[in-house]
Amino acid sequence: MKLFAAILTAVMCVVLLVALPAAAQAPKSAPAAAPKTLDGKELFLSQGCNTCHAVSTAGVTAKMKGSKAPDLATLTTKREPQWLSDFLRQQQADSAGKTHPKAFTGSDEQLGALLSWLEAQRKK
Ligand code: HEC
Repeated sequence: MKLFAAILTAVMCVVLLVALPAAAQAPKSAPAAAPKTLDGKELFLSQGCNTCHAVSTAGVTAKMKGSKAPDLATLTTKREPQWLSDFLRQQQADSAGKTHPKAFTGSDEQLGALLSWLEAQRKK
């Protein structure tokens, strides 16, 4: 039995020596596979939101002169995220019964990134 125990111990040691470094390496490879972070400001500009809207806290001005679109700096103080995403998908009308003049054309992830960027502009 002593020989069996010695062999078992030796086998366990080999298994541990092989398995441990592999387990230690596993988390390191994860960030490489993670998706690229979405830049909300970049999306705001590339979707042309700044044609009509300023975001004064972020130094963004409306390109269109005399635009009636509101400055979005204080937006998230009065609107819920769900309301905003429905509104920007033109599935939700505002209090005047109007839907947004432009639909957001990107993915849900991109819309989420854009809205959290707008949320962050409020705190400045
Ligand atoms: C063609 C001009 C135009 C473009 C482009 C535009 N908007 Fe608007 N947006 C408006 C106008 C005008 C209103 C006010 C709508 C109303 O009163 O019905 C508005 C309203 C909003 C509101 C609601 C504000 C509030 O206080 O309730 C949000 C949020 C918004 N826009 C976000 C965006 C985002 C994000 C983009 C880019 C994807 C964008 N807008 C692009 C003209 C525009």
